[in-house]
Amino acid sequence: MQAVRLARYHTGRSQLVRFSGAYHGWWGDVQPGIGNPAPAPQTYTLKDMSQDSLRVLEVRRDIACVLVNPLQALHPNAGAPSDGSLTDSSRAARFDKEAYAAWLKRLREVCTARNIVLIFDEVFVGFRVAMGGAQEYFGVRADMVTYGKTLGGGLPVGVLCGRKDLMKRYRDDRPADICFARGTFNAHPYVMGAMAAFLRALEQPEIAALYGDLDGLWNARAAAMNHALREADVPVEVQNLSSIWSVLYTKPSRYNWMFQYYLRAEGLALSWIGTGRLIFSLNYSEADFEAVVTAFTAAAKAMKEDGWWFESAASDRAIRRQILKEIISHRLKRIRGLMRARARAG
Ligand SMILES: Cc1ncc(COP(=O)(O)O)c(C=O)c1O
Repeated sequence: MQAVRLARYHTGRSQLVRFSGAYHGWWGDVQPGIGNPAPAPQTYTLKDMSQDSLRVLEVRRDIACVLVNPLQALHPNAGAPSDGSLTDSSRAARFDKEAYAAWLKRLREVCTARNIVLIFDEVFVGFRVAMGGAQEYFGVRADMVTYGKTLGGGLPVGVLCGRKDLMKRYRDDRPADICFARGTFNAHPYVMGAMAAFLRALEQPEIAALYGDLDGLWNARAAAMNHALREADVPVEVQNLSSIWSVLYTKPSRYNWMFQYYLRAEGLALSWIGTGRLIFSLNYSEADFEAVVTAFTAAAKAMKEDGWWFESAASDRAIRRQILKEIISHRLKRIRGLMRARARAG
């Protein structure tokens, strides 16, 4: 919120641009659409990795900032994998580091040329993909960067960094014209203490070593998981952006959402948003990782043996159509029931 407010303050423009599918928190301006009861007229949602979007940035004069959540590199234009997207097997994810880096570079050029503030929202990927976050990982410098989560050692924290001129919350020539920011929990000493400890820990050689060859390590681990899944002959595979993994299903099925319960039975609980997502702690040892592969593969085998991934000729499209039919017929039944009850009541 503060990054966007400052961008508006310094550019004197109203609109923020976000990309389709990207999550930036639940504040109204960054979450237009489902879940937000109010319209968000100062938000443009554009297509990620698209020449047409660059064109919009080139021609419009009302755009203050562009928000990028680099996590989208794993699934551009799609939201986080949720139960809803597991009702069939059509979800896709594939990370192409070069392509996404090239996209960010073009975005950077256009934003610079148009004086639009480029904001990287690194709340998710900061301190995960590299010590210098997505900026270092993709080799692109943003104007402002937001951090959270890891930075506070898990405590509630939001941090904004940026170019000196953009971080300024007043004007030298008009001191009463300020860009307001404050809050009950701002600079909370307890959280600041955790953050300082985290930042100091990063400088320790053994922690710095964790960042050595993250891609090499996690790509090899993803390949090992996929090998185990192929050996087990189950219709599951993983795609990864470093230590952030997405679970994909290789054959049409409407029961994929049940996989989370088989995983839980094996001792692996996934976060509620992402029955299709695994996010690994960087300090996972080989033994930790192998335990995950063993549990994951055993869960998939058990689900297959129980018959939930039976062979069927139904395509993902047919499954979606069937589910839609069932929803409509269920609603109609409810409406008819209500009408009958009302008629009986006179
Ligand atoms: C990229 C990104 N931005 C913003 C947020 C919102 O952060 P908070 O939940 O602290 O408001 C999240 C939360 O998951 C996030 O992943």
